[in-house]
Amino acid sequence: MMESSAAEKEQWIENDFAKAVAFQKQGEFDEAEKLYKKIILRQPEHLNAKLNYVILAINTENYVLGKHLCKMILKSGFIDENILVNYSICLIKLDEAAEAESILSEVLAVNPDNHAANGLLARVQLPGIDYLEYLALFHQWLKPKTYLEVGVDEGISLKRVNSNTQVIGIDPEPRINSVLPNNIRIFAAKSDDFFNDNNVSDLFGGKSIDLAFIDGLHRFDEALKDFINIEKYSDEKTVVLVHDCIPLNKATSTRERSTKFWSGDVWKLVLVLKKYRPDLQVFTIPASPTGLSVITNLDKTSNILKQELDCIFNDYLSVEYEQISASKKESLGIIEHGWDSVKEKLSTNNAV
Ligand SMILES: C[S@@+](CC[C@H](N)C(=O)[O-])C[C@H]1O[C@@H](n2cnc3c(N)ncnc32)[C@H](O)[C@@H]1O
Repeated sequence: MMESSAAEKEQWIENDFAKAVAFQKQGEFDEAEKLYKKIILRQPEHLNAKLNYVILAINTENYVLGKHLCKMILKSGFIDENILVNYSICLIKLDEAAEAESILSEVLAVNPDNHAANGLLARVQLPGIDYLEYLALFHQWLKPKTYLEVGVDEGISLKRVNSNTQVIGIDPEPRINSVLPNNIRIFAAKSDDFFNDNNVSDLFGGKSIDLAFIDGLHRFDEALKDFINIEKYSDEKTVVLVHDCIPLNKATSTRERSTKFWSGDVWKLVLVLKKYRPDLQVFTIPASPTGLSVITNLDKTSNILKQELDCIFNDYLSVEYEQISASKKESLGIIEHGWDSVKEKLSTNNAV
């Protein structure tokens, strides 16, 4: 009799669990929550109910509950990457970023390719508006007549352009599915080939490049060649933006890609420019997820970078993340977060 009732109890719990999962899938969170509570009350060790309840708490933005449940699960001895990532999400939302950062770093020490952990850590380290929002602000503020973008992909960053800006986008494999307005021309080519085969000034009807955004192949020498090619078509007011100049950690900032979240070694470009072109003004905005460098005071007559290209490549290929990890702010010229800081920096540099 006793055995049968225990088995029955087990069956009720599993039936309730199946119903709760179905409710959660359908977005009927109140119903799902009632059942998870009931299950956990009857069987506190029901791990799957607690794990699902954490996700429900996050979905319904109840981060206090989410944090409490995560702590309960971790205390019971169940520790895995997902629960630690979910715990970090709750901590970040509850403004406990320092603890989240340390947990995420622990997750990444075990699995450097945990995509969610890398993404969250990037958010924690560079809070505030992201590179796309900064890009939009540059367009709104500078109102460039001409804009050139290396690395277009799905055209998300291209969406920030003004309708009266003449735009050139370059990408060997653009993945744009919508019809673009007439002011935007896409060249399906590697940037090196594009610059070899085209005269940008001619394409822009004799105008210089007012604003450029380098976001192509995530390697410093490729970004450097893009910069050299862009500078040839610059004038004293040209602003060049380079994505991915603040490396998050070693695994995601190497030349060879080994992680889904990957910004490559583009950050070395800032070091190169600071050393070889002290005449340029270079600073870096702490824009999520991996920084946005700004280069002004260009000189289209300068040949130094082109002449030294091989030497630069050989010297900087072996530079390691550890050489800047403790001094990112100074090494990469990272300014305070916020659009006012950017405007102030550009005005001090006489760039605008
Ligand atoms: C990170 S995505 C660009 C994202 C886009 N700028 C945005 O923010 O929405 C990088 C793109 O660079 C392109 N790419 C790779 N090698 C390139 C090259 N040699 N020249 C130009 N683009 C390149 C890739 O095809 C990819 O679409």
